[in-house]
Amino acid sequence: MSEAFYAQAKLYDLMFPGGGPAVDYYRAEASRQGGSVLELGCGTGHKLIPIASDGHPSTGLDFSSEMLAEARRKADERGVAVEWVQGDMRAFDLGRTFDLVFITANSLLHLHEAEDLISCFRSVRRHLAPGARFVFDVFNPNVSMLAEANGTRRTRRSLSFTDPDRGTVSVDITETYDAPSQVTRGTWHLSAESEPDFLVAPVELRSIFPQELLLLLSLGGLRLTERFGDWSGGPFAGDASLQLCVCEPV
Ligand SMILES: C[S@@+](CC[C@H](N)C(=O)[O-])C[C@H]1O[C@@H](n2cnc3c(N)ncnc32)[C@H](O)[C@@H]1O
Repeated sequence: MSEAFYAQAKLYDLMFPGGGPAVDYYRAEASRQGGSVLELGCGTGHKLIPIASDGHPSTGLDFSSEMLAEARRKADERGVAVEWVQGDMRAFDLGRTFDLVFITANSLLHLHEAEDLISCFRSVRRHLAPGARFVFDVFNPNVSMLAEANGTRRTRRSLSFTDPDRGTVSVDITETYDAPSQVTRGTWHLSAESEPDFLVAPVELRSIFPQELLLLLSLGGLRLTERFGDWSGGPFAGDASLQLCVCEPV
């Protein structure tokens, strides 16, 4: 349901320019592990292109041909070799294993059904080389944040950006939280001064609650070895905004 949003790969990169502590974390993790890296839901390569430029054989898998095309264009421009694969993280078979598999920036939360998450974890497990780790980050849902998703259209000033063709672009989001499915259904409205609502696209993200996460991993044949609450490796606690999870095969 979020495909129309990701079809706008250049706008995505303007809105989310990359860099920052998440890139540093995954880069360091790739160096710690050594060897080959697979990112699922790699998008336009914010994390994977820097990792590949550090010398790790790197593969990125994503659903969206538009995100992959932008990733390929940027990697080629920088002279960085990455294997880009169009595929579905719910079930994939690349025919080989990797030393690090990761999923970042809430990409995992595009899988809404428990069966899809378990199937993804099983696919990940089959792609882990001996001693490999699977690392992912998802937000830590809290009830007050979910309660704010009450259908009110709100401007997110922190997401506003400059588009060379349109000038300043503002971003409004309308969200509702569907408790039975644990899915926050958002509509993102992008507006320029001369083009109000030039893009209106759904973005839907599931919540994975901390205890549920352990069960889903276990059904996927994985065990959580560490869970951090921030990018500097601080402990996971109730008020953490992040669940940064390190896993190994059972
Ligand atoms: C929030 S973006 C993150 C992109 C990138 N990891 C980053 O850090 O910038 C989520 C990505 O997940 C991809 N995605 C969503 N569902 C997917 C699926 N079932 N299989 C593979 N990729 C998927 C989207 O196409 C999108 O590129």
